[in-house]
Amino acid sequence: MKYYLTTPIYYTNGAPHIGHTYTTIACDAIRRFKRMQGYDAVLTTGADEHGVNVERSAAKVGKTPYDFSTMMANEFRMHWDELGIAGDQFIRTSDPEHERTVQWLFQRCRDNGYVYKGTYTGQYCVFDNLYVNDAKPGDPCPECGRPTETVTEENFFFKLSEFQERLLQLYEEQPLFIQPETRRNEVIRFVQGGLNDLSITRTTIKWGIPVPGEEPHVFYVWFDALIAYLTGAGGPEWQERGFWPADLHLIGKEIVRFHAIFWPAFLMAAGLPLPKRVFAHGWLLFEQDKMSKSRGNIVRPRPIAQVMGIEPLRYFLLREIVFGQDGNFSYDALVQRYNSDLANGLGNLASRTFAMINQYRNGTIPESDGDSHIAEAATQTVQMALDAYERLEFSRALDAVWSLISMADKYIVERKPWVLAKSEEAASAKLLDTTLYSAAEVVRIATGLLSPIIPESVAKIRRQLGLQTDAPVVVDLHWGHLRAGLKLGETAAVFPRIDAKVAIPQMRDLEQTEVARQNALLGRGEEKPAAADHSETDGLTPLAPPITIDDFVKIDIRVGLVKSASPVKGADKLLHLHVDIGEAAPRSIVAGIALAYKPEQLIGRKVAIVANLQPRKLRGIESNGMIVAASLEGGAPVLAGFHEDVPVGARLK
Ligand code: MSP
Repeated sequence: MKYYLTTPIYYTNGAPHIGHTYTTIACDAIRRFKRMQGYDAVLTTGADEHGVNVERSAAKVGKTPYDFSTMMANEFRMHWDELGIAGDQFIRTSDPEHERTVQWLFQRCRDNGYVYKGTYTGQYCVFDNLYVNDAKPGDPCPECGRPTETVTEENFFFKLSEFQERLLQLYEEQPLFIQPETRRNEVIRFVQGGLNDLSITRTTIKWGIPVPGEEPHVFYVWFDALIAYLTGAGGPEWQERGFWPADLHLIGKEIVRFHAIFWPAFLMAAGLPLPKRVFAHGWLLFEQDKMSKSRGNIVRPRPIAQVMGIEPLRYFLLREIVFGQDGNFSYDALVQRYNSDLANGLGNLASRTFAMINQYRNGTIPESDGDSHIAEAATQTVQMALDAYERLEFSRALDAVWSLISMADKYIVERKPWVLAKSEEAASAKLLDTTLYSAAEVVRIATGLLSPIIPESVAKIRRQLGLQTDAPVVVDLHWGHLRAGLKLGETAAVFPRIDAKVAIPQMRDLEQTEVARQNALLGRGEEKPAAADHSETDGLTPLAPPITIDDFVKIDIRVGLVKSASPVKGADKLLHLHVDIGEAAPRSIVAGIALAYKPEQLIGRKVAIVANLQPRKLRGIESNGMIVAASLEGGAPVLAGFHEDVPVGARLK
């Protein structure tokens, strides 16, 4: 029985951080769970290397795109190896097998009549690599708010518009195709709104997979990247490996549409089987904020692993955050969870149980059926946890295991083995056997259930219990499998308490070193918080074509005073402002500056507003004007402002 799962393939123009690690850890946990169930589980991960962004990043450090990508792909590999979460295969989009697979899939789509050559003229956001449909020249990018550029080029198009019905039918017939439910609804709504054909090649980019016989066309990002999943299953020879269709694509929520709409459509067009399940998890926030380079609040995993080990992080991420929803990371919460759940909870139950078995039964598991209440609870826990894992509800599975741990703790306190041990009566001795056996059996079952999440820690505990170190299997999780007469191994604390006052500063210090190391790879300067981040742009973007003064005076820029600012629901880059430019009422303006500015930082601030732009709606909100900001590649926007006091409404010319 095979189980094929994938992480997204990560862009090589950035370095791995805790967000990428979150997905990869979750995939590793699922792979271990599936292996525990007896599946031959294979995890594919990899690197997404082509495109303008990598070309630019490479140029910045004076490397070829290939050499630069190799260095960054190795950076990802090194992380996953070091953290014990390496995939069974690592696909690079620059690998020849991948190139062959992309070209092969394209040809199948073309042979089946789903590809045509056309001309694209439209608005394009260079920063997000995004074609903005229904936009006019000068309109802002709906993702980042930066002005889009008009481009005209010959492209190959994929007839996505022909797949609306088939996709809707897919979501209907396979309700688990896209999960969780919120994402499924979002995708269905989107597809119901109609689909445009998709441009899948570029002639302006060199760093990409060539379209055979159609040079200089190269495949464009998503047509290239998604196919890596198939490359990992054998590419054109997928039938030989038997791993396709994939059982699960695990992704972050921002790339749902590509996976739930484009990808099945490409496969349908090529006449290939569709993946069974796409699951989108939420975002990992750092102390309530979205992690971003411009905020300088990205957390790296290695410093955490160096100070606490990787397993507390695995446990924390999968326990603390409801999988599928956004969740928060903080060093404090990590250490607190570790101490309360691992050191005090599981660790303590194991060590007191082993200490009592050593003390009262010479280190040997006594003969007993165990306590029937505990047995019943354990049996239910196994069922609940396995079902929850199946649904990828990690936190629920872990909650169930910890309820069993607390129950066992309470049971020991109530049974008072230290009193029973003093009694000469046979009934007491039997009760003591029952108590010790039950506690040990809970440790065995709990550690079995936890092995997908904290495999090495539970292997240590199980060795102390006298068990073999092989990863446990699901069929052994039933009550009573613990053999009487088993000799305990040498015992020692597996989760020593961690002092937050010592560990957190250590992790923060190491983080600085790690940031500097990664920045050196990327040729970046010091990472600085928000506004200071822009120093890193060294190459000037090409100037726009010259205009006359008459052109310039057409643009009416005014001094405005921000009266209110609030987030835009569902658009984490946008803020909704009301700006007074001296008119009867403040203007409603939607600006793509939410990653760089908090609403409260803006209120009362004087800004420059392009006041005579055609109003338009962004996310359903009227935007009547554009706020002027320095907008730099790779950095957050910086608002233009005034050093001297200026009256509201003054014109800039
Ligand atoms: N290359 C594309 C994916 C192509 S898949 C065919 C890409 N790469 S990425 O490097 O930007 O990685 C995005 C993925 O990293 C997300 O989908 C998610 O799995 C993970 N995460 C990156 N930052 C994250 C958070 N802050 N929180 C949670 N996961 C995040 O998109």
